[in-house]
Amino acid sequence: MKQEDTIKAFKSIVEHRRAMRNYLPEPVPQEIIRRCIERAILAPSSSNLQLWEYYHVQAPDKKKALVEACMSQPAAANAPTLIVVVTRHDLWRQRCEANLNFIRNLNQKEPDDKPIKAETYFKKTIPALYTDFMGILGWLKKIGAFFIGLRRPMFRELTASEVRTMSHKSVALSAQTFMLALSAEGFDSCPMEGMDSKRIKHILGLPREAYINMVISCGVRAEGGIYAPRFRLPVEEVFFTL
Ligand SMILES: Cc1cc2nc3c(=O)[nH]c(=O)nc-3n(C[C@H](O)[C@H](O)[C@H](O)COP(=O)(O)O)c2cc1C
Repeated sequence: MKQEDTIKAFKSIVEHRRAMRNYLPEPVPQEIIRRCIERAILAPSSSNLQLWEYYHVQAPDKKKALVEACMSQPAAANAPTLIVVVTRHDLWRQRCEANLNFIRNLNQKEPDDKPIKAETYFKKTIPALYTDFMGILGWLKKIGAFFIGLRRPMFRELTASEVRTMSHKSVALSAQTFMLALSAEGFDSCPMEGMDSKRIKHILGLPREAYINMVISCGVRAEGGIYAPRFRLPVEEVFFTL
């Protein structure tokens, strides 16, 4: 594909995506959902921890409960397909281990190449960042960072909620990739944070330390699905060159 065709195709995929609040009744085929998730998990993630999970809620009783937990808002109530995007912040140790195993296998397979040295990163740096005790340790780390930061650049997002935000950032990048992949397949979506996350965790049987990142409704657009013409601030108001 020529570069200009790629640019055109990407533009049309991005422009096709609108927040959809009304859909035709047919669900998005399972193989398309799977393919879009295969694209979504190619998103970048902080330290490559990939703290995301996707739940395609199909069981009628669970789907009904999920719609109610989304406050029965039109984007959920009118949707044939609902996906819950979960931030598995609690799985950081397992994901460190997965990265370590990957690196070790790689180094065993190609011993002649320069070995990848990331063991310390996943064994020490990440645990130092992610370990917390009732939120107290995070604040102590932040105070320490403040003093170190007086003398040199220092990473400062160290409280439990700031580290959690870090995980949500990466998961949201993946969620957006999922919606763009759906758009490329000719389907529509709506991200939702207007929902009762506690109830949704209960519906999905998730532990307390897992967080609902967003719910994404999916389907084919129907009449009235787009509420208004797209409103965006002019690029000059949000893009600065220094
Ligand atoms: C994180 C996030 C949460 C959102 N939550 C909701 C929601 O709960 N209900 C809804 O109808 N739209 C929701 N939206 C959609 C926005 O209202 C919509 O993206 C915005 O108005 C811009 O419209 P566009 O996406 O069609 O360009 C959400 C969007 C994002 C990114």
